[in-house]
Amino acid sequence: MRIAITRELSEAIVDCELTHLERVPIDVELARLQHHQYEDCLASLDCAVQQLPAGRDMPDSLFVEDIAVVLDEVAIITRPGAHRRWLETPAIAAALQPYRRLLRIGPPGTLDGGDVLQMGRQIFVGQSGRTNRSGIQQLRRLLKPFGYSVEAVPVQGCLHLKSAVTQLSEDTLLVNPDWVTPGVFGIHRILEIHPSEPHAGNALWIDQTVIYPSAYPATLERLQRAGIQVKTLDVSEIAKAEGGVTCCSLLFDV
Ligand code: GLY
Repeated sequence: MRIAITRELSEAIVDCELTHLERVPIDVELARLQHHQYEDCLASLDCAVQQLPAGRDMPDSLFVEDIAVVLDEVAIITRPGAHRRWLETPAIAAALQPYRRLLRIGPPGTLDGGDVLQMGRQIFVGQSGRTNRSGIQQLRRLLKPFGYSVEAVPVQGCLHLKSAVTQLSEDTLLVNPDWVTPGVFGIHRILEIHPSEPHAGNALWIDQTVIYPSAYPATLERLQRAGIQVKTLDVSEIAKAEGGVTCCSLLFDV
């Protein structure tokens, strides 16, 4: 069974962290509707959705991806690079506890799950404004006993590594080459986003399907031409909070 942990969208989202975006008004009701549609989409792809209640005074708590890295053997509870987000970790740790042994990133390390791209036993970690050298070193040390390699990847111009690159299939990556150098990922097939859509690099791959924002039609066309099976969603309000489709769930098999 595949579990998808999500977290209810709080009205505090209007006060979310923003790094590369200007603050614009968020329609909270519409954002909630879009978040529910996202959860419905996960359910339609055979994920058992477990929604956690919204965190009080936690504007970004719907972005559960940043709070943990869940692998088959273990889950790493992160230490987010935005200090305000440290409040989010206890509820995620409690939700993962029944399913995985928990390990933690400790000070002075910081690491956001949005910076972690897992491809089999290879784990790429963005050197972003949120994830520091100690966080990456700790992740490498924690995962070495399980046979994972952890490689640091420079990113520029965006919040997280997965703002710039995500997986579309076993061997295909969707990349914004202005934000990350495609060559660092080795032999994988690379599909570039359309240059007019810099935020189009965040897609959520589940089995044979990719969940993808409808806001990027030119890149969507590239995905479809490449034979990728896509389910599109309107996540415009969530995007205003600098979150993408990977950010809103933690997916793992049990
Ligand atoms: N608003 C998403 C984040 O900054 O973590």
